[in-house]
Amino acid sequence: MDGAVTKAPPAPLSVASALERRVSVRAFLDRPVPREIIERIVRQAARAPSGGNLQPWHVRIIDGSDMAAFKALMDQRIREAPDSEPMPAPFYPDPLTSAQLRRRQRNGEILYAALGIDRTDMAARRAWNALNFRFFGAPSGVFLFLDRNATPFQWLDLGIYLQSLLLLLAENGLEACPQADWAMYGETVSGALGVDQALMLVCGVAIGHADPAHPENHIRTERDDPLAQERNG
Ligand SMILES: Cc1cc2nc3c(=O)[nH]c(=O)nc-3n(C[C@H](O)[C@H](O)[C@H](O)COP(=O)(O)O)c2cc1C
Repeated sequence: MDGAVTKAPPAPLSVASALERRVSVRAFLDRPVPREIIERIVRQAARAPSGGNLQPWHVRIIDGSDMAAFKALMDQRIREAPDSEPMPAPFYPDPLTSAQLRRRQRNGEILYAALGIDRTDMAARRAWNALNFRFFGAPSGVFLFLDRNATPFQWLDLGIYLQSLLLLLAENGLEACPQADWAMYGETVSGALGVDQALMLVCGVAIGHADPAHPENHIRTERDDPLAQERNG
């Protein structure tokens, strides 16, 4: 642990640089992030716009000794219920369009190649995927909830909140991974954190400092041109 080491604060980033620099990080150093920094960022992100200014997001932070106990609880829960609890919505459209399928497959190819996992090795993929529920080793995590009465427009608002949070984390020299996989265990997470049943868990965010020794932290995912005519090919 090198939590006592103080670093000079990072130089401010332009929005464009923060967008460029932000990537999903899936392996973290054992180095705590002060709770007050995350609280400040969570509050700053609430300047995100929302339809009717409903501000439909609800946020909980987990870290410190609570995190250790929570990871132990999740390990046990995954053993008991490996196939997920009831979900607030399906992860993906069914069926995906051909373009969506192509992008999703390419994303998996890039990630599993970096991890050295054969894409046909389902046991290895499953074992690696379970790391989601340990926040990929991050010292801090944030959970994002919506009221159960949310329409797709409040989900849209939550997405804007999430990206605001991710960019602010980047500005503060922190790395993160947004994780919709947490929606698979909303009941357990809500129970552990004492969250009202009127809320549904949509997403978690692992937060910390990237471990550069892990090749999966060095992948650069691709983007298609949003203005291209043949985006559905
Ligand atoms: C809403 C949302 C949910 C995501 N859920 C997961 C997840 O559960 N596990 C994971 O490893 N990555 C997750 N990701 C990360 C995506 O795979 C990643 O953003 C995408 O591959 C693009 O890569 P980049 O973030 O490095 O630019 C999620 C991203 C978003 C925006």
